[in-house]
Amino acid sequence: MTQIGAFDPALLTGPHMRAEGVVTLARDLQCAGLFFWLSPRRRVRLGTASEVEVGGTRLPVPDLSATRVTVDGGQREYVAFDSADYLGASVSPRLVEAAMNALLDAGAGTGGSRLVCGTTASHEQLEVAIAEYEHADASLFFGAGYDANVAVGMMHGGAPVLADELLHASAIDGCRAGRAAVEVFRHNDAEDLEERLHEAERCGRPSVWVESVYSMSGDEVAPRVLRVAQRHGASIIVDAAHSTLAGEGPGGWQVDGVDRTGITVVGTTSKAAGAAGGYVAGSRGCVAAYMLAARPFWFSTSPPASTCAAAHAALRLMSGPDGDVRRRRLRTNAARVRDELREMGYDIGSSTTYIIPVILGDTATTLRATALLRARGILAGGVLAPAVPRGQERIRLCVSSEHTAGEIDQLLDAFRDSRDALLGPHCADRRES
Ligand SMILES: Cc1ncc(COP(=O)(O)O)c(C=O)c1O
Repeated sequence: MTQIGAFDPALLTGPHMRAEGVVTLARDLQCAGLFFWLSPRRRVRLGTASEVEVGGTRLPVPDLSATRVTVDGGQREYVAFDSADYLGASVSPRLVEAAMNALLDAGAGTGGSRLVCGTTASHEQLEVAIAEYEHADASLFFGAGYDANVAVGMMHGGAPVLADELLHASAIDGCRAGRAAVEVFRHNDAEDLEERLHEAERCGRPSVWVESVYSMSGDEVAPRVLRVAQRHGASIIVDAAHSTLAGEGPGGWQVDGVDRTGITVVGTTSKAAGAAGGYVAGSRGCVAAYMLAARPFWFSTSPPASTCAAAHAALRLMSGPDGDVRRRRLRTNAARVRDELREMGYDIGSSTTYIIPVILGDTATTLRATALLRARGILAGGVLAPAVPRGQERIRLCVSSEHTAGEIDQLLDAFRDSRDALLGPHCADRRES
């Protein structure tokens, strides 16, 4: 079998995970003071307050900033460019209100799995709303997008699964747990996929698993990949974790010439929806099968009703005109960051979205970049091997519709002033080419 991703999968699953790989990574991060990432954050309270209605009473709730935080109880404010809350939904008073009312109605926890005692009206209403948003027959909600992917992967026991090499770890974990015969094809490479489909078809009907927006590279699934999969009659799974509500169309993704019928979509309510959780949406038969067989659904306490209510409020809010305005602003903000970073000579790979990698190519430079940015009041995640292939170490920027022009100036000025430190002597060449 081809290796999973462009890096050694043993690093993620073998004894190395507990031994050299993780210990080395931990040492690097500690040396660079990067356990700062684990320090508790607090959202900055804005001067205004909103009124919400909780249990029939109007209550003031503080307005929280979608983009500015303090860390570890300190006074200094940072602008966060590392959150997948792409539309700033997590601080919306509408989500807070929905969650508070559900807490009053259903309590803080459910006390069991969905099949025991953990289904409330909020769970059922959310699943209906998700199916509507996805233009699907039905949906099934899980406590995390991770669980939803694991459930889908585990359903492929023994069957051939062709996964894009950048597919998320949770999908691969699910396939492994289900003993699916996973093979990876080169990222967004329809020719490579087609060759592998010919081979895989000898062992049964293959599934092709892709992401609508890739989480580490910020590019979108190539339409040709989906068309090839459909031409071969493969079953298609789209992990739409990073496009749910952030992108256009049902499920936040649309591909010309691709019929969505029969495609299984995994989405999240943990990113642009600003809450937590994940789901599978598809045909009634497919969703019924997951309900009967998905182990993360059976063997885990269901998410609280307050989470479901918040996710449902996000679907309502972001499917309407407010969501349209925020999506337009998200696209404008992201295009500005991509264009200006490229002009400065930074390598942002093939990003076309609000996830923008700044590929720096080694651990030391990436760690230096996170420190330089932090000194300028910017929080941005460094992604190191083995999470990305060695030589592809990067800063991963997540742009939000709620970043102000001034906050984006602050980010871009920090990158501009750090060019020599981060790009070194190649800087001038890159800008010219
Ligand atoms: C592509 C992709 N799929 C699934 C997940 C899992 O979603 P969640 O964070 O809700 O568990 C993630 C999370 O980072 C992701 O990036």
